[in-house]
Amino acid sequence: MERLQKVIAHAGIASRRKAEQLILEGKVRVNGKVIKELGTKVKPQDRVEVEGVQIEQEKPVYFLLYKPTGVISSVTDDKDRKTVRDYFPYVEERIYPIGRLDYDTSGLLLMTNDGAFANHLMHPKYEIEKTYIAKVKGIPQKHEVRLLEKGVRLEDGVTAPAKVRVLSVDKRKQTSIVELVIHEGRNRQVRRMLETVGYPVVKLKRERYAFLDLVGLNAGEARELTPHEVKKLNSLADTGKERV
Ligand code: URA
Repeated sequence: MERLQKVIAHAGIASRRKAEQLILEGKVRVNGKVIKELGTKVKPQDRVEVEGVQIEQEKPVYFLLYKPTGVISSVTDDKDRKTVRDYFPYVEERIYPIGRLDYDTSGLLLMTNDGAFANHLMHPKYEIEKTYIAKVKGIPQKHEVRLLEKGVRLEDGVTAPAKVRVLSVDKRKQTSIVELVIHEGRNRQVRRMLETVGYPVVKLKRERYAFLDLVGLNAGEARELTPHEVKKLNSLADTGKERV
């Protein structure tokens, strides 16, 4: 038995708070009957409708994918390109990515059918840290690293402070490997940050998401999160900042 607002949130229809609002507004039916009580518990076999549309209750599942480059972070593509969903042919649940990685970015991507969990982790206030490794053209200097750390002005505003390390430099090829830890999730953020200070990205990989990494996986491989990892991610998002 699950609380009605949780079931609605899990289905990815609305946040927990919005689900409560929908219930209070009389827009939710259970087995045909309008339910306005927030505490109401429902069984998996109960028919839940939100604004007349039936939702399916699935058991929540959680996966970690090592996304290869050349794959889009969505579940369908109108241009018939490979999507991250294609790596889970054996999974029947309606999973989707939590956030996204660019087509040409590889690395750690979480997938779930748990809408509340996904909304939680993506909420900027929890400041979940993501670690990226970028190969860039050029050799960033100390003052440029400091700029990235402090925050750079992008067209959608100044970025939050980041942790930045130049891991290695190839003087002959004039390229560097840079590690960036950020907690925001703006579109193409890492590429734009590095480009803004003069170092275009030639390769980008997300190495870590909070305490999770890619150890033991090759590109294109996935594994289920353990119940402990799911719990830990939930508690991070409940208690606030993750400082790795
Ligand atoms: N920043 C980027 O530029 N690309 C990604 O895919 C993720 C973060």
